[in-house]
Amino acid sequence: MTTRSITDRLGGLAFGGDYNPEQWDEPVWKEDDDLMHRARVNLATVGVFSWALLEPEEGRYDFAWLDAHLERLHANGVAVDLATPTASPPPWFTLAHPDASTVRPDGTRLVHGSRDTYCLTAPAYREAARRMAGALAERYGDHPALALWHVHNEYATLCYCDHSAASFRVWLRARHGTLDILNEAWGTAFWSQRYTSWEQVLPPRATNWHRNPGQELDFRRFWADEVTAAYREQRDAIRAHSDRPVTTNLMLPAYQNIDVWALARELDVVTVDQYPSAPGVDAAADVAFHADRARSLGAGRPWLLMEQGTSTVYDGDRVLAKEPGDILRHTLGHIARGSEGALFFQWRQSRAGAETWHSAMVPHAGPDSRIFREVTRTGEAVARLGELAGSTVSAPVAVLHDPDAWWALGVDGLPTADLDYHAALGRAHRALWDAGVTVDFAHPAHELSRYPLVVAPALFLLSDKAAENLRRYVADGGTLLVQHASGYVDERLHARLGGYPAAPLREALGIRVEEYRPLRRDERITLSDGTRGTSWSESLRTEGAETLAAYTHGMLTGGPALTRHRFGTGRGWYLSTRLTDADYAALVARLLDEAGVGPELPGLPPRVEAVTRHAPDGRRWRFLINHGAESAPLPASAHDLLTDDTVSELPPGGCAVLRIT
Ligand code: GLA
Repeated sequence: MTTRSITDRLGGLAFGGDYNPEQWDEPVWKEDDDLMHRARVNLATVGVFSWALLEPEEGRYDFAWLDAHLERLHANGVAVDLATPTASPPPWFTLAHPDASTVRPDGTRLVHGSRDTYCLTAPAYREAARRMAGALAERYGDHPALALWHVHNEYATLCYCDHSAASFRVWLRARHGTLDILNEAWGTAFWSQRYTSWEQVLPPRATNWHRNPGQELDFRRFWADEVTAAYREQRDAIRAHSDRPVTTNLMLPAYQNIDVWALARELDVVTVDQYPSAPGVDAAADVAFHADRARSLGAGRPWLLMEQGTSTVYDGDRVLAKEPGDILRHTLGHIARGSEGALFFQWRQSRAGAETWHSAMVPHAGPDSRIFREVTRTGEAVARLGELAGSTVSAPVAVLHDPDAWWALGVDGLPTADLDYHAALGRAHRALWDAGVTVDFAHPAHELSRYPLVVAPALFLLSDKAAENLRRYVADGGTLLVQHASGYVDERLHARLGGYPAAPLREALGIRVEEYRPLRRDERITLSDGTRGTSWSESLRTEGAETLAAYTHGMLTGGPALTRHRFGTGRGWYLSTRLTDADYAALVARLLDEAGVGPELPGLPPRVEAVTRHAPDGRRWRFLINHGAESAPLPASAHDLLTDDTVSELPPGGCAVLRIT
């Protein structure tokens, strides 16, 4: 029988991390067994970067070492998330198949010595990856320790080599059919770029001045399809021998080289890695942002946090430490939003190699350390939450996310470099998180009617189908906020003529944008209602909408900046500048009010996060996390699973998981 839930085999939520015993020896393995037991570890990810050991030379596999570790883990009550090691080809592979390593846009061919030095489109690589997945599955497909298959690691690497060029052409022929259509789609009439044979078409390699935007966008789409196909090949090779669930860990947001919606549909369980990029309350908000995205990718199904750091916050050129207590708070932040547990990279901090200074569950200092004590405390907390397995989260607001729109804002020649798609999504989510509202992400062509409020930041590219979907959503009673520079281009990156955004959306918003006017760097403008804008402004006309705030500067003076249109039984709002954080938060509060959406738990002090998980049989659990510096009295006292006691107040930094009726 097919088992697609990982928690069935764990008897509760998952707790553990990447485990690389090949970096250590017997005495350390013995200590690992003991420490894993103490920390309540029940799932270890094994083999992620073990290709060199598993296949020491082409076609010769060595599984003896892995057999022993799997037996040991199993005997110790630890289930295994078994990875295929295909993200890190060993030196022999690169030397035997020099055509299968990554080529950068400037033609530089990478060599081994790091990781991810493969080309996904190289036949030798794909064949080796498929064989490896099949060989592992044949050997371990029904191993009693096996709970989950972990294909590859963070698919992301782009390649511009000749294999990639050949595959790109095949993909382009399938998409466009004829060269004439491709020429039209890419606008090759400009700058004399017309193609007269398929062989002339290349990936967007290094060239002079701006690259062709249509070529860039299609290359992104092609690569995303290639990733999905490569995943499917390994998954199918595994499924031929195993009934355990299969996944690959997605790294959001940094890696935008995948179509997350399409790939997520292929996964038995969505798994993601999350490393915040700022400490403190910003890290907690980032946890929520990623967790809400992960849940949404799986259409609300339970998902799993595959990696987080015990003490890792990436801040540009340095790694900042997490605050004491963050390990538990971040873990609960993920579980609150639907994760079936929490795993870390990695179990034991490496003593050598490229990530020697990356945090781990057992730090260099050993178990007598704050970090291991917090890990143990967190493991105990997760062990108390077993009854939540399989429960889900629902959200009243959706933020729209379309990989096409992200890629469209990554091409050359845009009016400003300020149009940062990921940041725009993050700002929208943050304002809603600060307001205490749980958020889903949705594709603009998804069915949206269950959300009273939908927010659409930076939907620069909007397909006809999605524009019509949004029009219908408003007509049928939804409240929609569309933000600046949305609906400017169609699926081919062709500008919408006659005014932005795309016609059906214009109708729902009751406006027509005539001119975009990016602001100077550091320029601040004030609108007629006293709110302030940065970065972008637009000259627009109302066509039925009311003006809620007008511009007060330059040629735009008196022109609409923020509008609202009653359309059908809904409302379409349009915001044509980027408001400051405080003013944007106030606007979001107004929209929530108009849409009748309140916070998850009214009456909580600011900075207290509340999320509810629901079981199909009606049981509910409320997670509360106090990110503030003050104690937070709870609206009603209730039974806390973490302490097995009644709580009525949360201390600063405190957490509770309440069973509610
Ligand atoms: C990713 C990888 C891990 C490790 C961490 C470091 O998530 O999957 O192997 O490199 O980053 O943060």
